Amino acid sequence: DAADAEKGTFPFYMLKEISEQPAVMRRLVSRYVDDAGTPQFDSAMLSALAAADRLYIVAAGTSYHAGLVGQNLFEHLAGVPTEAYLASEFGYHQPLLSAKPMFIFLTQSGETADIRQVLVNVKQAGYPSLTLTNVITSTLAREADYAVELGAGPEIAVASTKAYTAQVAVEALLAKALGQHKALPLAAAFDVAHQLSLAATGQQALIDQQDKLHELATEMFAQTRNAFFIGRGTDYYVSLEAALKLKEISYVQAEGFAAGELKHGTIALIEQDTPVVAFITDPITAARTRSNAEEVEARGAKVLRIASAALAEPGDQLIVDDLDPMLTPLLTIIPGQLLAYFTSLDRGYDVDRPRNLAKSVTVE
Ligand code: G6P
Repeated sequence: DAADAEKGTFPFYMLKEISEQPAVMRRLVSRYVDDAGTPQFDSAMLSALAAADRLYIVAAGTSYHAGLVGQNLFEHLAGVPTEAYLASEFGYHQPLLSAKPMFIFLTQSGETADIRQVLVNVKQAGYPSLTLTNVITSTLAREADYAVELGAGPEIAVASTKAYTAQVAVEALLAKALGQHKALPLAAAFDVAHQLSLAATGQQALIDQQDKLHELATEMFAQTRNAFFIGRGTDYYVSLEAALKLKEISYVQAEGFAAGELKHGTIALIEQDTPVVAFITDPITAARTRSNAEEVEARGAKVLRIASAALAEPGDQLIVDDLDPMLTPLLTIIPGQLLAYFTSLDRGYDVDRPRNLAKSVTVE
């Protein structure tokens, strides 16, 4: 069928979609950023966002993980307190809202029922809303006040890859646009087009190392039933997403942890050869995450260190290009995705159609 034809020479949609990410980054820059380097969005939407005293990002699954990364971007570049929430939680236990909230629904499909439930309540209360989605004709795009397209192109594999990086990129574009709308100097100084083009180049360099990532996947995960991903700050958020990828398609029990929390419980699970992946791209916490990695190593863990170039040390197995620390998930998730892909492939699973999962979940 037509969808199959699109897969071309790739054995699975997931690998095709992983490989498309550099092109998606470049496309988003040419689509949204003008010649002066300012992202262009609907001005009524930017005014609504500028009027908010707090942004509530509501999402599920991988999109929630992209929302966690967005918190920093909106707070730092647009000067507005921002929190990401799980739609399935927010819908039933709504936190005390600020005086002028605005809602951002982050959703690849635009059809997730958990989010729709929140949207209905938000509209009833009269609060403004914006949906960031890959499907601009979707229910959540139509029902929110504003909608912005992620532009990742159709995502077929159940495990989301290019929609995640597109979400992070669009959050950066939007945060920059909002900051400039509010005349904030930090936003003006942040060259988002340059960052996204560095991200595209860095992603390609990682995709080009997929044979090495296949070897690392075999070494780390061939035998194991469990695995841990650790980091701090954005490296923590990417740990959650990398663990979700591995869970979804290889059925390894994988968990992402804030590296500093290991000592408060999780370290009890470390045994001889337990795989631990450590993300080290945040200059503020790099040394601390490194010592957490050493602590688990001393207890027998098999540690894979993924570090950005400026922070790399001898013995780090994978280096990613330098990028603004708020945006490093655009790079570090690539090995996360590829490690999951090759683990699933090695175990002989149907990578694109994992058991028990649906691409879009239209029931609560
Ligand atoms: C499903 C998919 C996940 C996805 C989540 C949210 O569970 O299997 O990959 O992250 O829904 O989907 P959305 O379309 O709202 O981003």
